Amino acid sequence: MEKWKRKVQDDELSEDEEKVFDQLGLNGTTRRKFLKQISAASLSIWASSYFTSELFANTMKDLPDKPEVFLNEVKVNLRVNEMVKPLTLDSRTSLLDALRERLALTGSKKGCDHGQCGACTVMIDGKRKLSCLTLAATCEDKEITTIEGLARDGELHPMQQAFLKHDGFQCGYCTPGQICSSVALLEEAKNGEASYVTEDFKNVEKNLELSEEEIRERMSGNICRCGAYNNIVQAFKEVHSGNDEMPTWEFATLEQMEKAKNA
Ligand code: FES
Ligand code: FES
Repeated sequence: MEKWKRKVQDDELSEDEEKVFDQLGLNGTTRRKFLKQISAASLSIWASSYFTSELFANTMKDLPDKPEVFLNEVKVNLRVNEMVKPLTLDSRTSLLDALRERLALTGSKKGCDHGQCGACTVMIDGKRKLSCLTLAATCEDKEITTIEGLARDGELHPMQQAFLKHDGFQCGYCTPGQICSSVALLEEAKNGEASYVTEDFKNVEKNLELSEEEIRERMSGNICRCGAYNNIVQAFKEVHSGNDEMPTWEFATLEQMEKAKNA
């Protein structure tokens, strides 16, 4: 910030920096005042409680009366849950941020924002995608389905019902992503799409009946910190194959644990 302040005083802003200031409607004295105040704030963050309200009141009154300023503005028609929403966005906005911040569809969750947890999973043209790694601007004319769009006529989707029946969640934070992923996985199995553990890629049949191991493998991009995995697999199995057998695993008894420890 000090560097910026010096640059402004010496009128040494680059073309891009000039553009940002112009878009913010800041020039001449206003620009210097804005930078001076921000600079003071960044150097004295520890003392912010003494002056922030006055600083921001002064700064805000100099800013243009415009709700948002975008550096790279794009217009995009997002088709979400069978409704078209025209939006003006910064071209770098992720689909997750557009859904949550602009369309108030907060069912899709931001866990890691780095493509590692699956909490933000939605369906784009029927395929599961991580919305935190998808640019909203690339979704024009694509059919986006979020957790909010799965129920029909007041009836939960069968996968939602199965998650409830089998207790496929605890805190529920990962659940929208788990359910969207499971719904898309049903289609992948129906279309005979291969996975990492498919042995013979050339002869994958349609209408695959997935084993528990394969369900786990195919759902491995969706992390559940509460560890509801066994119940999620049961829920998926019920919708996928009508098999609502209860799990075959069981907790070890104390005796068995002792035995294993001493073995
Ligand atoms: S928030 Fe997208 S993968 Fe974690
Ligand atoms: S239910 Fe809590 S993270 Fe999965």
